[in-house]
Amino acid sequence: MTRVLVIHGPNLNLLGVREPDVYGRCTLAQLNERIHEKAQELSIEVRTSQSNPEADIIGAIHGALEWGDGVIINPGAFTHYSYAIRDAIAAIRMPVIEVHISNVHGREEFRRHSVVAPVVYGQIVGFSANSYLLALHAMRDLLEESRR
Ligand code: DQA
Repeated sequence: MTRVLVIHGPNLNLLGVREPDVYGRCTLAQLNERIHEKAQELSIEVRTSQSNPEADIIGAIHGALEWGDGVIINPGAFTHYSYAIRDAIAAIRMPVIEVHISNVHGREEFRRHSVVAPVVYGQIVGFSANSYLLALHAMRDLLEESRR
């Protein structure tokens, strides 16, 4: 079965209470439940993790080398400046999809730039919690395609 790692970055543990007008009222636990349901529907084996420190996110990305065919990651604010996370993504040489809950392009200037964008397969932004579910569909299709 296809194995996909879903990595949530900093402050996403506060989903549901954190700026609900921007990030919605869905908690991280509810979001992970939806991710697991969708994964089951798509015959994907999924593992989710959330970390605030950069080092733990890098460790989680490396973990895909042991367990995973692809990674879906929301690096949170690290998106905009972490070259270390960018390098970790480049190092694992497998499909990675960058997701954002909010439409980062319609917000503050600093959110419009992603340093990880050049090393991911693609980005899905602005569909609230659905961004992750759309990413699961995209990951399933692209991994199926690569096996043909
Ligand atoms: C975010 C967007 C980032 O700019 C922000 O720092 C986050 C969440 C999103 O999912 O919309 O923490 O990645």
